[in-house]
Amino acid sequence: MKIIITEDYDELSIKGAEIIAEVIKNNPRAVLGLATGSTPIGAYKNLVKTYGLGNITFKEIETVNLDEYAGLGEESEHSYVSFMRENLFDKVDIDLKNTHLPNGKAENLNEECERYSRLVFSHTQDIQLLGLGSNGHIGFNEPFTPFNSLTHVVNLTENTIKDNSRLFEKEEDVPRQAITMGIREIMQAKKILVLASGKNKAKAVYSMVKGEVSEECPASVLQRHSDVMLVIDREAASLL
Ligand code: GLP
Repeated sequence: MKIIITEDYDELSIKGAEIIAEVIKNNPRAVLGLATGSTPIGAYKNLVKTYGLGNITFKEIETVNLDEYAGLGEESEHSYVSFMRENLFDKVDIDLKNTHLPNGKAENLNEECERYSRLVFSHTQDIQLLGLGSNGHIGFNEPFTPFNSLTHVVNLTENTIKDNSRLFEKEEDVPRQAITMGIREIMQAKKILVLASGKNKAKAVYSMVKGEVSEECPASVLQRHSDVMLVIDREAASLL
């Protein structure tokens, strides 16, 4: 793993966007694996800025997102599809037909997982962006998810429901299930970029980088990938 430690969140966001922009410059038809959560918001802002300066175009870019809440779709401001439109897709020249997320509103979630898994396998990510759950989850692959898992429906842990409740009005409003890309589909990416910021990520960062590779900490699997770039701020790096 290559590790870049930044002074703060702003610097992390600039660096993260630079790395993604570089992939787009090298291959204007790249497949970007994208993530949600509060951490990548700053990187998306900087990417939109770079686009505004005319340095990159998303015209032929394809995207595959990590996850979506079960039961939520475009009508909900809390869905990840809405998040992506608000933070990136509606602000650049991407063709929405080339953007892919699991459909949280599918009638049969298991069939939707199979469809999405096939789609991701046919769209190898040139870069996969990841945030990090405070319990070491990636996407919504919670602790003890098998490393060979494919896209699946997950029951969110209490820890994750609590963490994510800050974005909802009440904790009860957080969906209890989600569809997430599996660890195998994440690991197929040619390059992986992990962003982590703040003290509450320091333990997970430590386990990911220095802990034993174990399903107890899903992010530790990244030690087995040959091209991982970790961009973290001082606070997230404080236990390393
Ligand atoms: C959610 C997402 C993850 C994300 C995590 C961390 O659980 N499914 O992909 O990495 O939140 O979120 P945040 O960046 O807001 O701390």
